[in-house]
Amino acid sequence: MNNSEAQEEILKLSEEINKHNHLYYVENKSIISDYDFDLLLKKLQDLEIQFPEFAFDYSPTKRVGGDITKKFETVVHRFPMLSLSNTYSEEEIIEWENRLKKLAEGEIEYVCELKYDGVAIGIRYKNGFLLRAVTRGDGNQGEDVTINVKTIKTIPLSLKGNFPADFEIRGEIFMPLESFQKLNAEREESDEPLFANPRNTASGTLKMKDSKIVADRSLDCYLYGVYGNDSIIEGHFESVEKAGEWGFKVPLVKNRFIEKVTSIDGIMNYIHFWDKERNNLPFEIDGVVIKVNNYSQQKSLGFTSKSPRWAIAYKFKTERVETKLESITFQVGRTGAITPVANLLTVQLGGTSVKRASLHNSDQIEKLNLHEGDFVYVEKGGEIIPKIVGVNTEKRNQSSPIVKFIENCPECNTALVRKEGEVQHYCPNELFCPPQMKGKIEHFIGRKAMNIDGLGAETVDLLYAKGLVKTIADLYELTFHQLVELERIADKSANNIISGIEVSKTVPFERVLFALGIRFVGETVAKKLAKHFKTIENIKVASIEELINVDEIGDKIAISVQNYFSNNESRLLIEKLISAGLQFEIKEKEGATNKLDGKSFVVSGVFNSFSRDEIKEVIENNGGKNVSSISSKTDYVIAGENMGPAKLKKASSLGITILTEDEFIQLFN
Ligand code: IVH
Repeated sequence: MNNSEAQEEILKLSEEINKHNHLYYVENKSIISDYDFDLLLKKLQDLEIQFPEFAFDYSPTKRVGGDITKKFETVVHRFPMLSLSNTYSEEEIIEWENRLKKLAEGEIEYVCELKYDGVAIGIRYKNGFLLRAVTRGDGNQGEDVTINVKTIKTIPLSLKGNFPADFEIRGEIFMPLESFQKLNAEREESDEPLFANPRNTASGTLKMKDSKIVADRSLDCYLYGVYGNDSIIEGHFESVEKAGEWGFKVPLVKNRFIEKVTSIDGIMNYIHFWDKERNNLPFEIDGVVIKVNNYSQQKSLGFTSKSPRWAIAYKFKTERVETKLESITFQVGRTGAITPVANLLTVQLGGTSVKRASLHNSDQIEKLNLHEGDFVYVEKGGEIIPKIVGVNTEKRNQSSPIVKFIENCPECNTALVRKEGEVQHYCPNELFCPPQMKGKIEHFIGRKAMNIDGLGAETVDLLYAKGLVKTIADLYELTFHQLVELERIADKSANNIISGIEVSKTVPFERVLFALGIRFVGETVAKKLAKHFKTIENIKVASIEELINVDEIGDKIAISVQNYFSNNESRLLIEKLISAGLQFEIKEKEGATNKLDGKSFVVSGVFNSFSRDEIKEVIENNGGKNVSSISSKTDYVIAGENMGPAKLKKASSLGITILTEDEFIQLFN
């Protein structure tokens, strides 16, 4: 393929991928299988590596993240990002509308919209390409978070249709409830503190230094305003419609996310509809926004010092109900963490019946000054289980005692501990407390850990109750006969379980390490430790300093890893698992070295003795890193035949060592 063919193919592939991304993420439609989509993306990635001079900044391959930002640059907004005046009172909306009728000339059309509960963003597009995305900051200047915003699939990197040459579009980035709940479930799994609500999580995520993490967290964005000097549009509603044509995810009339009305009745109707319906949305809103549609009317109404006169936000009161606290259950988790849960007299909240609420920890109970039998206020947040936000002390029976946190484990009676600086109480009886033992086994067999087919929580319960499996090592001693003797297990399931356990012996070391359930060692940490130390033996003897030296491993994780291995029971368990045949070291590829450690390579062009992928594999197996485009951080370019002259020029102007295929092979002779 020559240069111009490659450029054409890159453009064609990018357009096709953009089309599928838009269909999938914005229109919720899909006309291609995941497999075929991945093939297209892979094809584009390969071409961009081969012809980096055509790997544009707006390529859909940039969505995966991976770039690290040290510091976000401050950018002054071209148009200040104002806030909205807001109210909780319908009266004030009526007054606002009456005022406008007097101030504005002619009939007024209003646009009603949702007030998304996220973070405001301003994104500038030049000649149809995403140039820069900036947070609101103090309204006058914000932070350049372009790299992270580019990972959000619903924000187009390039536009279609008839768009203005230079404009800014503003909207709200938020975290859908499903993503939020999934993220918290994962954090719970690896014992990390949970996020409080989707809004703060979206805001924190947008400012993360590693864009790969942002890409994984599935943020989303609705756009609500177009700003530009050469406005070709008459009103706000039309501008949103147009933005939809250019490829943005915008609110639609058909689901009433946006609505044009001409009277206060229309406004009230919209408010009442969403006050009821908001609980059924897949994301959080905190109210609705009402805007004057026509731009020239907007202009003549103007601004106060802080906000436009032509718009107002009506905020919903957070729905809160009162109910009776019947009792408190203390649950023991897999890691021994004790979570108090309030059992409530069943009550309706946001369209669902609520009978339990989370109390998080003992501090929370103290803060609420909870007494037995109290009448409590309950609210719904982004969490599935609602929370108690206050107590109606007027209804308290003066003789009812204060709620005391338990001192002993409700399951095994061991005295609980609370480490300095931590909010949670723990049962320290890690090895013999039943829910901890069962929890460890369930974690071990889980999909992301050993992925043992045929085994689930129920079977674990049964095996535990019958005394057949008390630790994860016991799984490897189970026999077919023991299983079929149990009343609920038929021959076929027993076979499944036994073969699932057998297959688990081939699960790679990093997943075995994660499966052990060491506190704070989630999937990512396990991968990092495995890659760095290569064998369990090396991790076992690593000092705190050596552990901390690994990328992203801090004191907390290091101490937890050392604690785990200093325990005799854990050592014994690992010995049993080693004899059972599990993988406790990274399988080195044949001929692997660390000769190229820390060096980055761009492989480009066509080669004689090897394919490009083979050369890249050699680089990785020897500790090097393959990158897609030449920059000042590249150490070597491996130049095959047909490598573009522009690229060669760039490499030599940056002083990068250029190796031919033969020179590269000689490195290993
Ligand atoms: S319009 C000049 N429309 O609410 C007013 N804002 O207090 C520009 N927000 O910072 C904002 N949904 O983050 C507008 N449909 C919507 C909105 C919305 C959420 C947020 C936005 C803004 C804040 C205003």
